Amino acid sequence: MNITILAIESSCDDTSAAVIQNGLILSNIIANQSVHQEYGGVVPELASRSHQQNIVPVVEKALKQAGVSKQDITAVAFTRGPGLLGSLLVGTSFAKGFALAHQCKLIEVNHLHAHVLASFIQTPTERIAEPQFPFLSLLVSGGHTQIIIAHSYTNMEIIGTTIDDAAGEAFDKCAKVLGLPYPGGPHIDNHAQKGNPLAYSFNKPSIPDFDFSFSGLKTSVLYFLRDQIKQNPEFISQNIDDICASLQKTIIDILMQKLHAAVKHTGIREIAIGGGVAANSGLRNAIAEFGKKYGYNTYIPERKYTTDNAAMIAITAYHKYLAQDFASQDISPRARYSLQEYFGKI
Ligand code: KG4
Ligand code: ZN
Repeated sequence: MNITILAIESSCDDTSAAVIQNGLILSNIIANQSVHQEYGGVVPELASRSHQQNIVPVVEKALKQAGVSKQDITAVAFTRGPGLLGSLLVGTSFAKGFALAHQCKLIEVNHLHAHVLASFIQTPTERIAEPQFPFLSLLVSGGHTQIIIAHSYTNMEIIGTTIDDAAGEAFDKCAKVLGLPYPGGPHIDNHAQKGNPLAYSFNKPSIPDFDFSFSGLKTSVLYFLRDQIKQNPEFISQNIDDICASLQKTIIDILMQKLHAAVKHTGIREIAIGGGVAANSGLRNAIAEFGKKYGYNTYIPERKYTTDNAAMIAITAYHKYLAQDFASQDISPRARYSLQEYFGKI
């Protein structure tokens, strides 16, 4: 019998549905919400409303593209958390209703677990090399920045985390200061590709072990710009490429320094990245070069699998299905939902 799973992701501002059959992704549909752009950030009420509008057409499209019918589905998976409660509620309610109506299994997925397993996404037409366990995962998104040891598909240990802002937040907050649209990460990336990363230097935090701190960077950029604008009011527009390149280099240096320390400490030579910031061209290059230089195996998912998507929920759900780890109908979403709690470690 085929294992065919419909997966739903609705933790923030992307409504996504994917179908996975026997471990291979057959479809992955994403509806982005442009409504937030004019507010310079995600507005939770608007996100929830857009999910409600998008979810049925997105699921229909995912099923159609996969060439499967609702009756073929053996399990429905959904992101339980972490994320915006109103957004999570839409995906959770939809999945519960679908499981009841079609008498199939229900699988809850932690969004962070899914970002880590994005390196295992395979399609029928393109096979990629997968990390070997144990591997180190650098998880960098809009809400999280962690270094994780993945011992197996369903056993993970966090060895480093941010004590304040996430790497994605650092990109987005600095972009806002520079007057770039939300979310700023991709805009900084674009400008950085045309600029000189050594043009300016920003302070790097000194935090022990494998933890991160990014809150000081925004302040440092803010003061730097204030001083420069005093001398030249056109400073930002005239130097945007160099500012972005230097800023991006600082964020990447902070991430790579900790990753390097974690590799040395653990002796693990398999390294994967995940989360929206893993779409960054500079970070992707830095990881690849790091692997080449020291002889580590690096795994960099396709860009569309780094930012929020349901394919990563689907691959995670597939492994939970194999482990017979199912949820019941009384389950509810969790805005805060650490990996430790999810894996039953606390
Ligand atoms: O994983 P994700 O889609 O959502 C969360 O789970 O948070 O990550 C979103 C974050 C945003 O902060 C966005 O600016 C950042 O990923 N991001 C990037 C790039 N693409 C997305 N940051 C830097 N460079 C990019 N190319
Ligand atoms: Zn995410």
